[in-house]
Amino acid sequence: MLSWDDYDDSQEPSTPKKAPQQPATPAKSAAQPQAANVVKPVETALKDNADISSKASEDAALEKAQASLKKLDVAPGLEELEMGAKRVQVDEKAMINCRADLNQLVPFKYDWAWQKYLDGCANHWMPQEINMTADVALWKSADGLTEDERRLVMRSLGYFSTADSLVANNLVLAIYRVITNPECRQYILRQAFEEAIHTHAYQYCVESLAMDEGEVFNMYREVPSVAQKAAWSLKHTKEISDPTFTTGTEETDRILLKNLIAFYVVTEGIFFYCGFCQILSMGRRNKMTGVSEQFQYILRDESMHLNFGIDVINQIKLENPNLWTAEFQEEVTQMILEGTALEIQFAKESMPRGILGMNSNMMEEYLKFIANRRLTQIGLPEQFSNVSNPFPWMSEIMDLRKEKNFFETRVIEYQTGGALSW
Ligand SMILES: [Fe+2]
Ligand SMILES: [Fe+2]
Repeated sequence: MLSWDDYDDSQEPSTPKKAPQQPATPAKSAAQPQAANVVKPVETALKDNADISSKASEDAALEKAQASLKKLDVAPGLEELEMGAKRVQVDEKAMINCRADLNQLVPFKYDWAWQKYLDGCANHWMPQEINMTADVALWKSADGLTEDERRLVMRSLGYFSTADSLVANNLVLAIYRVITNPECRQYILRQAFEEAIHTHAYQYCVESLAMDEGEVFNMYREVPSVAQKAAWSLKHTKEISDPTFTTGTEETDRILLKNLIAFYVVTEGIFFYCGFCQILSMGRRNKMTGVSEQFQYILRDESMHLNFGIDVINQIKLENPNLWTAEFQEEVTQMILEGTALEIQFAKESMPRGILGMNSNMMEEYLKFIANRRLTQIGLPEQFSNVSNPFPWMSEIMDLRKEKNFFETRVIEYQTGGALSW
């Protein structure tokens, strides 16, 4: 264990440098190797000379730093700050195009965003806490799973292993900058870390099961039903991830809204649900229970991401009713229909035959049921009539999450400040 003493030894500040008492010449030191106390060896002499010039350059650097500090602008940053300006009032805060100081978290305007941040932190988990032993044995066993079951696991990991990176990149490279509310940004930062944990979880599954990682992580470029979903999401991040993109006009505000709908409602709210349903169905049949448990934790996080996104979208609509025209509503409905069609295609391709008490027709109905739900969540009419949920156990799993403490069986306790050791 590294102690502070070790730290002090290794970081000992350099002693004040002295000028060499007497310049040494290479010839002299070479001729009198025994007289090291009197005449310094070549290396030492050279070092001392270097110390003199390094001291001079240190002084120059220090002067430069002090001169620069004298010119420091006390109100720089990504957003304009005004020294001595009135303190931030809650009414000045807004979801987009806000001019109030974004570095001040409080006073809260959107308590729901702060609460979601707290809930997200309270749900912290890590992939290595989940026991994968039974999965490894089952995956390696020649007759453990059918070919269709193996295909389903591979397809799910193939899609998810890169999808969460797409979501994370969209969060930090696109929407973070243009969502101008600090409590929402605080949640987005939490969400971004959760997306990193999800990508870690998929990598952990791939590694534990000794899958061909190249095959899994390249599916989003090589398997059409996976690639089309990824391409559809990427299409909607393109404009906003351009560093010069800004909101502030009806057109650009709508581009942002479309991005939020593409990622929160379609990608996280529809594209994830066939895979969740398939893997959780395996877990219910006592197969791939470790992978299934990873997916349960991920589903719980994703439910919160979806709900946060829906709240943000609805809040932007509320604050900017001019954006939500009939024409735009039609465009958004179209996006959700496109996403649903892509997910149905993925279901058919990943599940060509009936498996685990489900088939692609049932999954199609389930996805239409989910799409109806997503439409109504953002205030649009349902598009699929006569559909119901063929997998009520999915709702039960998600509802159960509100009551059951899934961390009861966990043995790992996270380090707290008091227990921190180096
Ligand atoms: Fe995720
Ligand atoms: Fe997510």
